[in-house]
Amino acid sequence: MYRLNAAIADSKYAIHIGSDVMHELKIILQPYKKILIVTDRNIQKKLFVELNQLLQNFACDLLVLEAGEEHKTWSSVNQILEFMHNNSYDRKSVLISFGGGVIGDIGGFAAAIYMRGVPWIQIPTTLLAQVDAAIGGKTGCNFYRIKNLIGCFYQPCAVFSETKYLLTLTDREYLNGMAEVIKCAFACDSEFFVWLEANLQLLKIRDLDTLERAIVQSCRIKLALVAKDPLDFGVRRHLNFGHTFGHAIEAVTNFREYLHGEAVAIGMMYACRIAVKMGLLARTFESRLYDMLSFLGLPTDLNDSTKVGLMYDYMLYDKKKHADELTLILPCALGEVRVVDGIKLKELKHDYVCI
Ligand SMILES: NC(=O)c1ccc[n+]([C@@H]2O[C@H](COP(=O)([O-])OP(=O)(O)OC[C@H]3O[C@@H](n4cnc5c(N)ncnc54)[C@H](O)[C@@H]3O)[C@@H](O)[C@H]2O)c1
Repeated sequence: MYRLNAAIADSKYAIHIGSDVMHELKIILQPYKKILIVTDRNIQKKLFVELNQLLQNFACDLLVLEAGEEHKTWSSVNQILEFMHNNSYDRKSVLISFGGGVIGDIGGFAAAIYMRGVPWIQIPTTLLAQVDAAIGGKTGCNFYRIKNLIGCFYQPCAVFSETKYLLTLTDREYLNGMAEVIKCAFACDSEFFVWLEANLQLLKIRDLDTLERAIVQSCRIKLALVAKDPLDFGVRRHLNFGHTFGHAIEAVTNFREYLHGEAVAIGMMYACRIAVKMGLLARTFESRLYDMLSFLGLPTDLNDSTKVGLMYDYMLYDKKKHADELTLILPCALGEVRVVDGIKLKELKHDYVCI
């Protein structure tokens, strides 16, 4: 069991990681008279009994939302706000997000804006949320179908990443999170990548001790970058390795074909291929990433030249970019990435549509 100390902007709090970490929650909840647990329908069915038992001596309210990205909306945030208002919640109350990244993001956003901020605790239940979404204080929801269009930075008072919760995830959801673990290692920490290579079989079968170490190291990496760049203008962008491609892949496949981590896995491979072609990265590192993703059964290619063309078109016409130039996070060594500006996307599309 590990305890990491997060120090982000003015906030300091503990991130508890491991199996059987939940008992600490009872100590943290002592001062609160009103406790609201926000979760989704799947998690309520699979995991709530145990949490309920743990908190039997506390007066908790439970608000269950529909599961899934399509419910990461203002309407769900509003449901939380209305519940707190109708039940006389105030700034001495606490809100707990008990769920994956969706519940984490909307619960945190509601906690941030209700009465200008009420205490908030995160209990992430997916691997993706434990290594990524619950770390760094980004909260929000989708708006007019645009992902994370509204939101704010808001830090919790504690995070409890119970690894046993990950055992009820489907293989696909579990691997979705593994893609982010691999991204962290490949982009930022060569030793961690080598360690992952040595422990891949144990990770595949969700050995809890090995998983705990992988989560701890991923969180350490993200925390170090967030501490240097809390508002995401500088080094934190290194963690976007694979994401420009990933977002385009999700968009051109209508968010139906690939989960986010799967799209990022493919995106990392495209970024590697480009880096190799530009002479930035040795091919052997590209092969090691490919081997790792393939061993776990994560996708590594779109395998469809029409979709590849659409992906580049999306990147080319995405409104966030100026002219036809793009900034990409490209790998330059194992555990090292570089922000490369001025990449001519039209040339890229022409050169790489068939790689
Ligand atoms: N705030 C951030 O910094 C940040 C970072 C990365 C991603 N995100 C956001 O996170 C979201 C994706 O998170 P996610 O992948 O956790 O998705 P999710 O919250 O939708 O969870 C995925 C599915 O798994 C189910 N589930 C959750 N825990 C479970 C468990 N232990 N056992 C069985 N089923 C379980 C959920 O009900 C859901 O159906 C996206 O909205 C993304 O924008 C935020």
